Amino acid sequence: MRIRKAVFPVGGLGTRFLPATKSMPKEMLPIVDKPLIHYAFEEARAAGIEQFIFVTGRNKDAIENHFDVAFELDNTLSDAQKIEMLERTRGFLPPAGSIVYTRQGAPLGLGHAVWCARDLVGNEPFAVILADDLVDASTPCIGQLMSAHTKNPGSNFAAVMDVPREKTNRYGILQVTHTDGVLHRASSLIEKPAPEAAPSTTAIIGRYVLQPGIFTLLEKHTKGAGGEIQLTDAMNQAIATTPFYGVSFEGTRYDCGEVAGFVEATNAFYKKRQKA
Ligand code: UTP
Repeated sequence: MRIRKAVFPVGGLGTRFLPATKSMPKEMLPIVDKPLIHYAFEEARAAGIEQFIFVTGRNKDAIENHFDVAFELDNTLSDAQKIEMLERTRGFLPPAGSIVYTRQGAPLGLGHAVWCARDLVGNEPFAVILADDLVDASTPCIGQLMSAHTKNPGSNFAAVMDVPREKTNRYGILQVTHTDGVLHRASSLIEKPAPEAAPSTTAIIGRYVLQPGIFTLLEKHTKGAGGEIQLTDAMNQAIATTPFYGVSFEGTRYDCGEVAGFVEATNAFYKKRQKA
């Protein structure tokens, strides 16, 4: 079944960016001149996603405003004949009604945020994109997962990359049973294992294609690492009935959820912009 819907969990507190994120969502932090969430949205749209589901929280109004018409701004730019700038503020807006919002209520974890989208997703496979993982790729990273899903329908997928062993405690890690170098079949997943306990160094980053059956598992609200409801734990439980594949993707991933990765992305995107 074709993937039409993408969930964007943007309900986290972004504490690693305080005080910047005290009143502004982390996903609105700009890389050069575009907010992180804008890159995530563009990636999804380039991959053919038609419905964009934002799971938001307190202080996230700026995200809704970003994807809405800015009437005064548009009028001022239009009167001044600033056509290129006008295009920049409204050229990216999708058809009315294609973005929907729901609130998480409390930031109980990524798994809980995804579960909050259950009624909006319904009974079909869907994509999940974490905007703070920025992926610079010639083919949209989520599109690469969607292609893998087309070839192996009915399975769950996450984008993966190899990480240094000392960093396994920051990621969901795969126990790989077999691999063709791109597609890695996993027999289990473990969230944030200590380096000495990690079954591999193949780590999940913030792109997923999931079967709707995941909602039944998330419904249990079981707490995992850090006392949060973890998506990795639900995907791991799902392996009993639903194959799980990690997908090595083409592209460069920046961890914009932490300051060093954010600065690295800013520099890389600025350099790229200067060359263009
Ligand atoms: P992170 O753990 O990286 O984000 O979650 P965070 O909690 O906002 O950041 P820190 O650790 O406090 O700095 C990864 C993604 O999952 C979303 C976040 O918004 C981010 O996009 N998330 C996380 C939710 O939507 N809800 C949650 O309860 C937790």
